[in-house]
Amino acid sequence: MTTEQPIGIFDSGFGGLSVFQAVQKQLPHENVVFVADFAGAPWGDRSLADINARIDYLITFLQKKHIKALVIACNTATALAIDRLRQEHPFPIIGIEPAIAPATRQSQTGVIGVFATTRTIQSRRYQQLKRKLQWSGMIVDIPTPGLADLVEKGQLHTSRTQALIRRFWPTDKKIDQLVLGCTHYPFLIQDIQQVIGPQITLHNPAPAVAQQLQRQLEKYHLCNPQQALGSAQFFGTGVGHIQEKILQTLLQNSSYSLTCLPAFTP
Ligand code: DGL
Repeated sequence: MTTEQPIGIFDSGFGGLSVFQAVQKQLPHENVVFVADFAGAPWGDRSLADINARIDYLITFLQKKHIKALVIACNTATALAIDRLRQEHPFPIIGIEPAIAPATRQSQTGVIGVFATTRTIQSRRYQQLKRKLQWSGMIVDIPTPGLADLVEKGQLHTSRTQALIRRFWPTDKKIDQLVLGCTHYPFLIQDIQQVIGPQITLHNPAPAVAQQLQRQLEKYHLCNPQQALGSAQFFGTGVGHIQEKILQTLLQNSSYSLTCLPAFTP
């Protein structure tokens, strides 16, 4: 592995861009290749075998780009596959999981909420994470089906999106910290905060993931020493003009382009 090789980042769809943003901020000199399965997103309601096959499809693509490290910018994929992937691949693999530990540390009311896909909440890995914490307070798991899909459709700051958030939000609990347990949700921070109120603190684990990536690159002497800013390339299945527009809007950069990959076929 050499320092010039890119970092690979993948997600089911646009959510991984919230992790891309954190990586770019933390490691501006790294080259990054981002890939997503827009044609298959959201993954949350697919079968385990199907999600695993889609993950492998994206990683095979990233391997052809000679990545030196991999970031799984998807809570669902991390929960389902990170242990297997670490056994199968030689490069460092960094995953993402709901940031419940920092949320419990900051909670005054002793009640935190977690917005995540049903698959993430049901996963053994997430249930173990909660058990290991041994927190005496209450963790309110809030499955949010349909919310990631609205981000996929570019529906930010719409009444439809806010109505869905309102439907999920339990008003009868004294939640003072909300964990964003899906990488799509940082793009909805404004909408979420508008619905649940500004006094509730939101937790996005993406900056912590970028820091962990940096520690891994340092550990394996893989940091890119170049002085210039790193490159960013974006690929995805099911890409059209609309997807490219959404990507540019989410990243607030109209010079980024998106290249289409053949759709995954089982
Ligand atoms: N961004 C993915 C996550 O963090 C969304 C999963 C999905 O596609 O359902 O879990």
